[in-house]
Amino acid sequence: MTSTHRIYIAGHNGMVGSAIMRRLKQNGITEFITRTHSELDLTNQAAVRTFFEIEKPEQVYLAAAKVGGIHANNTYPAEFIYQNMMIEANIIDAAFKNNVKKLLFLGSSCIYPKSSPQPMSEEALLTSVLESTNEPYAIAKIAGIKLCESYNRQYGISYGIDYRSVMPTNLYGQGDNYHPENSHVIPGLISRFHEAKINNSPNVTIWGSGRPYREFLHVDDMAAACVYVMNLDKALYDTHTETMLSHINVGSGQELTILELATLIGKVVGYNGQIEFDSSQPDGTMRKLLDSGRLNKLGWQAQISLENGLALTYQDFLKYYKNS
Ligand SMILES: NC(=O)c1ccc[n+]([C@@H]2O[C@H](COP(=O)([O-])OP(=O)(O)OC[C@H]3O[C@@H](n4cnc5c(N)ncnc54)[C@H](OP(=O)(O)O)[C@@H]3O)[C@@H](O)[C@H]2O)c1
Repeated sequence: MTSTHRIYIAGHNGMVGSAIMRRLKQNGITEFITRTHSELDLTNQAAVRTFFEIEKPEQVYLAAAKVGGIHANNTYPAEFIYQNMMIEANIIDAAFKNNVKKLLFLGSSCIYPKSSPQPMSEEALLTSVLESTNEPYAIAKIAGIKLCESYNRQYGISYGIDYRSVMPTNLYGQGDNYHPENSHVIPGLISRFHEAKINNSPNVTIWGSGRPYREFLHVDDMAAACVYVMNLDKALYDTHTETMLSHINVGSGQELTILELATLIGKVVGYNGQIEFDSSQPDGTMRKLLDSGRLNKLGWQAQISLENGLALTYQDFLKYYKNS
């Protein structure tokens, strides 16, 4: 990879966008094109077009999105579908019109039907109904995949464009959101175990039975996978994808129960009290594992073990905690 590409990272201040930037810097890239949300609202089509006309990026990582948990998705479904569809459509079309040859779109594992066979392979897309709580968000993400595929189909050969999509599993790590009500499971548990440790609380109660299985991937692994997929040789990429089934799952392949996860986080944080479960609360899906076989066949595997990743994340949390 050379540093001569003009690389635009949409969402460079977000958890994934900032990890992609760190990864590219490690690879020797020193210059990036970036805009904060307040400098460029990506839902504004005219502003996005003008930005691309002026900056003329050569590669785009599309890591900007309106994201949130179940509560936010349920409360603001119109914002989730509208803003995400606009961001994707504006960027992908402006990229094409301004001669961007390579683009990587980030989706999510919620694109798969709620009753998908486990582990969920890329083929499960559009085979059945989605989970209702985040259906609007998932539809927008599916539209992002189909935008990439449709531009490739119509303009791939004539204009030499190559737009790809990756679907991450649950991510955690540096830059995560530790908001008490609106965080994902790992940052939420780190925060609760830390509070329990400093308050000498005898126990921590976790919602649900602790029995559901979940898969996690450190965000630095995710960033490494993004850069890997972006730069994969086209002939190799084409051998393992289909024109209308081109997206690639990105997971660690390791699943563990919420009880096992909580026990591990307690150990990393140094909490010595009891972990209790409130089984009267809902568990959600019992298993949610991505089949990352396609990516593995393309030559990429996750490198960061959950235990090491959690230790790094706890250090990041402590910095956030000190400043909050
Ligand atoms: N984190 C995960 O566990 C996870 C799992 C699967 C998939 N993903 C996917 O990975 C991608 C990145 O997620 P993330 O966790 O990095 O999210 P994030 O931390 O919330 O970052 C998203 C970024 O997009 C920016 N953004 C949102 N709306 C914008 C707009 N209208 N104009 C300009 N910028 C805008 C945000 O800026 P502001 O904050 O200023 O609005 C933020 O910097 C998303 O597509 C998400 O679906 C994430």
